[in-house]
Amino acid sequence: MLIQFPSSFLWGAAISSYQCEGKNINSDWYVWEKQKNLDKAGKACDHYNRFQEDFKLAKELNLNSFRLSIEWARVCPHKGKFSQEAIEHYKKVLDTLAREGLKPIVTLHHFTNPIWFSNNGGWMNKENIEDFLFYLRKIVDELKDKVDAWIIFNEPLVYLYKGFIEGTWPPGEASLSAAKKVIDNIMAAYCTGYKNIKQIYQGIDKPVRVSIAKNLRVFKPCCKGVKTLNSVIAYLRSRYFNFWLLKKLYKKRCLDFIGVNYYCCEYDSFGGVLGSECGHKTHQAKQNYLGWNIDPEGFYQVLIALKKFDLPVLITENGTAENKNSCYEDFLDTHLRALARAHSKGVKIQGYMWWSLLDNFEWDKGFGPRFGLVYVNYDTMQRSIKPFAYKYAKIARENAINI
Ligand code: BGC
Repeated sequence: MLIQFPSSFLWGAAISSYQCEGKNINSDWYVWEKQKNLDKAGKACDHYNRFQEDFKLAKELNLNSFRLSIEWARVCPHKGKFSQEAIEHYKKVLDTLAREGLKPIVTLHHFTNPIWFSNNGGWMNKENIEDFLFYLRKIVDELKDKVDAWIIFNEPLVYLYKGFIEGTWPPGEASLSAAKKVIDNIMAAYCTGYKNIKQIYQGIDKPVRVSIAKNLRVFKPCCKGVKTLNSVIAYLRSRYFNFWLLKKLYKKRCLDFIGVNYYCCEYDSFGGVLGSECGHKTHQAKQNYLGWNIDPEGFYQVLIALKKFDLPVLITENGTAENKNSCYEDFLDTHLRALARAHSKGVKIQGYMWWSLLDNFEWDKGFGPRFGLVYVNYDTMQRSIKPFAYKYAKIARENAINI
């Protein structure tokens, strides 16, 4: 059966500034990489200088939209002071996207913070919320004519977990009480930021849509140990990790759509306060280069589960890191068929962004994992489109999927 998408459907790719631009030396990740002796983002993909070439590649792949992020530390390198040069750069980026027929989806916070913000206690300090809102208002005001969809935070709970519970990302806290403050502050910043954006657009009488990009996964019980206890943990992790924040924001009426980042499923075991993801490699799923469990059926299930919110859904990230082209192709094919099935069952899906346009800097994993539609040679910065990307280009052109 052929599933045809509406003509307004967005076919895109996503990137984030720190992972692609290069030379973001005012961000907290820059300090962290050095402290922990990790791979350094350095010049990353040099996207800051090569964005025109990169958007041409996106256009060559028949894409009609593009998700990117603004690097807070670049536009606001010192507390209370903006770099007009950096703001002008992002205006040029957005004008170039418009010329290439790529509709922008713009993220304001994609994991990184300015060093000065982190040094003042970052998200743990309630007083700092205003610093973020000051940045948000300035950027939204400067870019409002060029953007009509904003993502205020990328994956707030992943940021929370890695930075404040597990402590493997900056600022490296491992404290539940710190985590509690951080999530309260992020939620407060989101809700006020949402209202601020709406007010700014009221002034120009232009519609705008605002949301978060929420990482969703499927949680399943590990088959080792006591199955019932593992099932309880999987249920609770799904309830809190997938839906708790969405429900809160939905009730406060400050989500215009749901941004979904979906990659994999996890198997959970009983134990510890929060339960844990089990490390067994023996479960059903195929795994990608990073050992993530590939589960397209899970993608379908989480999309169907979102029906209860009765909001439009935008897939803000989906993708995989692989060594073989055939694996990328299989992932793309199975996940897009899952998406089309969910669409045919009434989930109001408005678009799909592959993560990522370019191979790029994968945080604490460095440059090993390659998620791109486009291969990047990090020595020469030469770009080459991977074979599976042409399959994606064909689907984007036909705007239809056979299920
Ligand atoms: C993040 C990206 C990251 C990707 C692959 C998402 O959780 O938003 O920054 O590169 O997953 O790990």
